[in-house]
Amino acid sequence: MAETKQYRIAVLPGDGIGPEVTAEATRVLTAVGERFGCTFQFQEALIGGAAYDAVGHPLPPETLELCQQSDAILLGAIGGPKWDSLPVHLRPEAGALLPLRKALDVYANLRPAFVFDALANASTLKKEVVEGLDILIVRELTGGLYFGQKRREKIPGGERVVETLEYTSAEIERVARFAFQLAQKRRKKLTSVDKANVLESSRLWREVVSALAADYPDVELNHVFVDNCAMQLVRNPRQFDVLLTENMFGDILSDQAAQLTGSLGMLPSASVGGSVGLYEPSHGSAPKYAGQGVVNPIATILSGAMMLRYSFGLEEAARAVEEAVAAALEQGYRTRDIMEPGCRQVSTSEMGEVIAELVEKG
Ligand code: IPM
Ligand code: MG
Repeated sequence: MAETKQYRIAVLPGDGIGPEVTAEATRVLTAVGERFGCTFQFQEALIGGAAYDAVGHPLPPETLELCQQSDAILLGAIGGPKWDSLPVHLRPEAGALLPLRKALDVYANLRPAFVFDALANASTLKKEVVEGLDILIVRELTGGLYFGQKRREKIPGGERVVETLEYTSAEIERVARFAFQLAQKRRKKLTSVDKANVLESSRLWREVVSALAADYPDVELNHVFVDNCAMQLVRNPRQFDVLLTENMFGDILSDQAAQLTGSLGMLPSASVGGSVGLYEPSHGSAPKYAGQGVVNPIATILSGAMMLRYSFGLEEAARAVEEAVAAALEQGYRTRDIMEPGCRQVSTSEMGEVIAELVEKG
């Protein structure tokens, strides 16, 4: 008998609603294992405020080690008001999330923004603007302003601060190739976002991306300035397929794109390119809803689907999860955030159960 394939997944539930949503994603992955004959081995570790409270640091060395030894990482969410006044290096975001991204070298952050047919009315934009929307933001994740040198000093009459934005052509090239290859598997349109009319880093960005276009002749490449891109995203978002951008612009544009869909609770993300992929919902830790069983686990469940696709190459299994989510919505199951008249409101764990059952049944 063939040995069943085993995958080791580090599960980092984190803070707030993180534990509730990761529990549903692991439930669905277990169902995937049943149906497709593979085994997922989940090992939990502390991260974020929960780790600070337990051991005094938001990214304990044991957690980083477990991540580096796993085949993929599922992260819930981190942070909350309780830890906001800690020194920066001990806060969940700067003390855990950014160093984790850097240590894993996950330079390509994939943030899809799509509208499920069943939820086309959820956007604050007109239905005809967002219906059928399906864009993918590829955000550079380990360089730029986030990781540049920072300095703050007293000067006569006040203070002075310096932040540096640094990229090498190699850093730009690797994330751009990633985006070109993803575009090849989609609608073959790549839009590179920069501020080349002002920033030298953007001029290098544009040069490097343009020089690669010859290697991907089937992809139509164009460039837009970031301010125009922000405007186009609300004017006519369906003109875009894959958007490629540096770290800071990508942070801002990805929140904007997420809101176009009207349901942040639905959007997954993947941070890849290094040795181990990191998968997490696009939403935050929503501390005020923690422990109530009311939040939407679909973003984390779909992050699990991205893990199947990008870390394990299990395309069929990834699709099975995505189809199960679409089927649960078609059948009228809704968590509170996406509830509509005539639909059936379910809890976090009920939504997970429904999707897991649909995955198993196929
Ligand atoms: C994100 C978040 C993080 C970022 C924060 C929490 C550091 O906003 O993943 O988009 O800015 O990258
Ligand atoms: Mg952000």
